[in-house]
Amino acid sequence: MRNETIAIHAGYEPEPTTHAVAVPIYQTAAYAFDSADHGAALFNLEAEGFRYSRIANPTSAVLEKRIAQLEGGVGALAVATGQAALHFAFVNVADHGGNIVSVPQLYGTTHTLLSHILPRQGITGRFAESDKPEAIEKLIDENTRAVFAETIGNPAGNVCDIEALARIAHAHGVPLIVDNTVATPILLKPFDYGADIAVHSLTKFLGGHGTTLGGAIVDSGNFPWDKHAERFPAYNKPDVSYHGLVYAERFGRTAYIERARSVYQRTMGSVLSPFNAFLLLQGIETVALRMERHVENARKVAEFLRGDPRVAWVNYTGFPDSPYYPLVQKYLNGNASSLFTFGIKGGMEAGKTFYDTLKLITRLVNIGDAKSLACHPASTTHRQMSAEQQRVAGVLPETIRLSIGIEHVSDIVEDIDQALEKACPSARLEAAE
Ligand SMILES: Cc1ncc(COP(=O)(O)O)c(C=O)c1O
Repeated sequence: MRNETIAIHAGYEPEPTTHAVAVPIYQTAAYAFDSADHGAALFNLEAEGFRYSRIANPTSAVLEKRIAQLEGGVGALAVATGQAALHFAFVNVADHGGNIVSVPQLYGTTHTLLSHILPRQGITGRFAESDKPEAIEKLIDENTRAVFAETIGNPAGNVCDIEALARIAHAHGVPLIVDNTVATPILLKPFDYGADIAVHSLTKFLGGHGTTLGGAIVDSGNFPWDKHAERFPAYNKPDVSYHGLVYAERFGRTAYIERARSVYQRTMGSVLSPFNAFLLLQGIETVALRMERHVENARKVAEFLRGDPRVAWVNYTGFPDSPYYPLVQKYLNGNASSLFTFGIKGGMEAGKTFYDTLKLITRLVNIGDAKSLACHPASTTHRQMSAEQQRVAGVLPETIRLSIGIEHVSDIVEDIDQALEKACPSARLEAAE
């Protein structure tokens, strides 16, 4: 099946009791056992089924199957937020003493997770000086447990060379984990290029309407945990917290995602509510159509900005002179992201006036809504970073990040035009002289 069809149908057939066509919301905490033996088999992971909604829920299970199929993976785990998904994705490979080698261009809170929060648990985030494969390789050592990248960085907009990163990660016996939130599996399927694990904030383009937080981890099933037993003992030695289960032996290709559920979701929670799973499924039904319009509108807005004398720079990877243009062709089939940044002439002050004058485009910190959104990363999402860390992450004081929505593009451009006029009237006059 193709994307459009998977997004609407995967993971659900009208259920046998009521034949409900829409995915039912199973708002239940627990599930009845037929007998003591049935309960025991469920707890031993020997029988398929549900026991308690902190571990699995039928509505969320449909969402998990749908996302797994969109990504071409063997299984998925849906959780409460994208951040919870990232946390589980990291601790599911790294214990005390381990490190994760990452590109520097990350969403601010993920950067904080790797640079401040996980180190308190003995897991170090190591940031390369760029997203180039050589820069990543330099930091990998015997304690590295994964290479990490956002397929399209938020807000830097950089497109990672996934195939090259996967090659390097695999040469050192570690998986490549990618955050595919900004690209979505509609624009890019990282497993086709060797990534092992994909993480999503479903809050963004996949959910698509800015109503619902959610996250997911998807397992490609391709990383050979059993071949790297020394680096990943948690997959290859009996788990005393789960009656001696050996994940790689028992689950084979789904070992990673089963362990994420049985160890982290089970003991730490961060569960997605069934109602939110339902809302996210509704959003996903139209994601393929929406992504087309996001991409098309963004191109027109970027072209408008680039041709405007009031604008200092536009960082849009769909322009042939962008250093990422070849990677946009290779990985995104030419579909540059609708998330991009620009800077207005007049620096910080002009940028703030522009931001404050927007009428249609909403001022907030979110991306991937059907609505067009704008954010000033230096004062919000990337505020916790030093000026140097911000620069490496692609954030300057005047940077405005746009997430172009699916309104009529003329209305979006008109709003930007009127805000530029207020913020920077003299530049246009000077250019006209
Ligand atoms: C690329 C990326 N990953 C993860 C997250 C975190 O997602 P959530 O807000 O659902 O926790 C975000 C949030 O903006 C993001 O942009």
